Amino acid sequence: MQFDDVIDRSSTFAFKWEKYKGTDIIPMWVADTEFSSPQPIIDALHERVSHGLFGYTLPSQYTPANDAVVRWLKDKHDWHIQADWIVWTPGVVPAFNVACKAYCQEGDAVMVQTPNYPPLRAAAGINKLTRIEIDTIEQNGRWTLDFKQLAEQAQRPECKLFIVCNPMNPVGSVLSEEDLAEVARICAENDVTLCSDEIHCDLILDESKRHLPAGNIKGLEQRSVTLMAASKTFNIAGLGTSFAIIPDAKLRKQFIAATQGFVPWANVMGLVATEVAFTQCDEWHQQLLDYLRQNLAYIEQQVEQIDGLRMLKVDATYLAWIDASGLGVENPQKYFEDKGVGPSPGVDFGNKQFVRINFGCPKSMLKEAFARLK
Ligand SMILES: Cc1ncc(COP(=O)(O)O)c(C=O)c1O
Repeated sequence: MQFDDVIDRSSTFAFKWEKYKGTDIIPMWVADTEFSSPQPIIDALHERVSHGLFGYTLPSQYTPANDAVVRWLKDKHDWHIQADWIVWTPGVVPAFNVACKAYCQEGDAVMVQTPNYPPLRAAAGINKLTRIEIDTIEQNGRWTLDFKQLAEQAQRPECKLFIVCNPMNPVGSVLSEEDLAEVARICAENDVTLCSDEIHCDLILDESKRHLPAGNIKGLEQRSVTLMAASKTFNIAGLGTSFAIIPDAKLRKQFIAATQGFVPWANVMGLVATEVAFTQCDEWHQQLLDYLRQNLAYIEQQVEQIDGLRMLKVDATYLAWIDASGLGVENPQKYFEDKGVGPSPGVDFGNKQFVRINFGCPKSMLKEAFARLK
């Protein structure tokens, strides 16, 4: 089983591994996986490298990558897009910051859920806008958005944009059809644009759930920007390539205008990798999901056995949001690190009593981490 292979990344300056270099702490923080990318991606990159010329490539002219996105969204998410709705970006983080610039002006406010991926929490402030936090609440054993709060806050006249993260990082929930209908209703009633970060959308682990792209929801087609990438699923985040799907021509024009002058084109290697990921790796993708499902089942079982730890159901992602408040320690991150496990500190996401564990790793690594914790 290729996902069982333990691959030494120490010579590659991987961000995840640099943090704990020289210590005996297993890094389980940054959201990339310990898995090698599928062989067809590696082969295609080799082939591209062997060509030897790496000049400018305008992503919209690289038709195979655009066709691959159209194919993937149709087959995997039942979303029939037109290729010219795609705007390539060198990452999802720049893309949601571009959305802030494109759709807001000084004095405006942006809604964003809490807890959340730190750069999503930072985006409003970076763009000199007010951040309105929307709570994530526990409902029937899973995390979801506080829709009452969303409806109230959206009414504020300065509120122009809602940046949603779906599937949700760090909590791992997937918004349902009803949830998204409610988001659509609230956005329409208050003339709020939706920017939907869906970078984890190809990592649905609960087989009874489906990912529903924002731009394919009735009422959101003309008021949304959907951000996606092959990066998380196929472990190619270092290749700096993602894309926005913007069906509405005016929103698309505003978005592109806001990129001018400082957002570079997506990386040519990332375009090659995305093309191959979305055309030749369906079987690998399926195997990855099966592997992650087993890891999730293991982690759920282990967390249940450790007094003081608790987690809710994870629908998607390879991230477990673990409530460590029951441990009764001041600093859960330090508690984990003292035991030789390095999660992401919950405080960075907005709740210091939690930690986030990345379970996109070989089972042996996961087992070692929990043996240490126990
Ligand atoms: C929700 C979310 N959005 C964006 C990113 C990063 O996107 P990119 O590397 O494409 O800028 C991450 C990475 O962890 C993420 O979890």
